[in-house]
Amino acid sequence: MRIGILGAGNMADALGTQWAGAGHPVMISGRDLDRSAAQAERVRAQAARRQLVAAPAASAEVDVRAGTWAEAAGFGEVVVVAVREAGLVDVLQAARPSMRDKPVIDVTNAAAPDRYDPTRPIARMIRDLTGGHVVKAFNLCHVDVWRMTPPVFDGRPLAVPLCGDDPGAMDAARTLVAGLGCTPLDGGGLDRAMQLEATAAFVIGLWFGGADAQAVLPPLASSGTHGRT
Ligand SMILES: NC(=O)c1ccc[n+]([C@@H]2O[C@H](COP(=O)([O-])OP(=O)(O)OC[C@H]3O[C@@H](n4cnc5c(N)ncnc54)[C@H](OP(=O)(O)O)[C@@H]3O)[C@@H](O)[C@H]2O)c1
Repeated sequence: MRIGILGAGNMADALGTQWAGAGHPVMISGRDLDRSAAQAERVRAQAARRQLVAAPAASAEVDVRAGTWAEAAGFGEVVVVAVREAGLVDVLQAARPSMRDKPVIDVTNAAAPDRYDPTRPIARMIRDLTGGHVVKAFNLCHVDVWRMTPPVFDGRPLAVPLCGDDPGAMDAARTLVAGLGCTPLDGGGLDRAMQLEATAAFVIGLWFGGADAQAVLPPLASSGTHGRT
C-alpha cells in the first residue's frame, strides 16, 4: 500500500520507518524539499537496517522518497496527516486536490494540552477540508512508542484506537496498526475522534505533570461492564 505522509518531522520519521520496513512505499513531505529529501534518506536507511535485523534473508527493496505536500497526497493510496497544528490548514489547502475519497489517517494533536479547543475538532476539520475518509489514530502515544519494534508493555501489545466512518479507510488503518505490531481497536465513528483528541490532551497533561496516566484506568474485569452482554 503506497503511503503519502504530510509531514517530515518526528512522527513521519517514526511511522515512515516502520511502514517502509514492512514493505510499504512511502513518500514524506515538508516545507523544504531538500530537507525532506535528507529526511527521506534517513528513513530509508533506518527501514533498511530494521529489515536486515528482522529478516536478513528476506530483506527487500525499501522505497522512501520525498515530495511536495501535493505530491505526497497524490502518491498515497492512504494519506497520513502528521503536521503541527499551526501549519495544518495551509498544508491541507495544498494537498486537498488529491485527498478526496482517500483513506486519511490523522495523527495530529493540539499544539499543547492547554491549547486543546473542544469547539475545533481536528479530525472533522480535516474531513471537511479534504473530503477524505478520515480515521483518527496514533495520537495517544509519544513518538518514541511508535519507534518500538514492537510496542509491547507488560507483555501486552499496545492497542491503538481507531475512530472513523468509512470501512475501507478503517481497513487501511488496521493494516497500518498491525504493521507496527500493535492491536487495532475499533473506537467508533469519526464523531468520536474528538474524544480521542480530548483524551490525548488530558493524558499528556498528566504526563507533563509527572503522573503515570496508565495508572488511572482499572483492568476490564473491574470496569463495571465485565460480564454484561
Ligand atoms: N511527537 C509526538 O510525540 C507526537 C505523538 C502523537 C501525535 N503527534 C502529533 O503529530 C503531529 C506531528 O508531530 P511531530 O512530532 O512529527 O512534529 P514535528 O517533528 O515538529 O514535525 C512537524 C511537521 O509539520 C510541518 N509543518 C508544516 N507547517 C508547519 C508550521 N507552520 N509550523 C510547524 N511545523 C509545520 C513540519 O514541516 P517541516 O518539515 O518543513 O519542518 C514538519 O514536517 C503533531 O500534530 C503532533 O501533535 C506527535
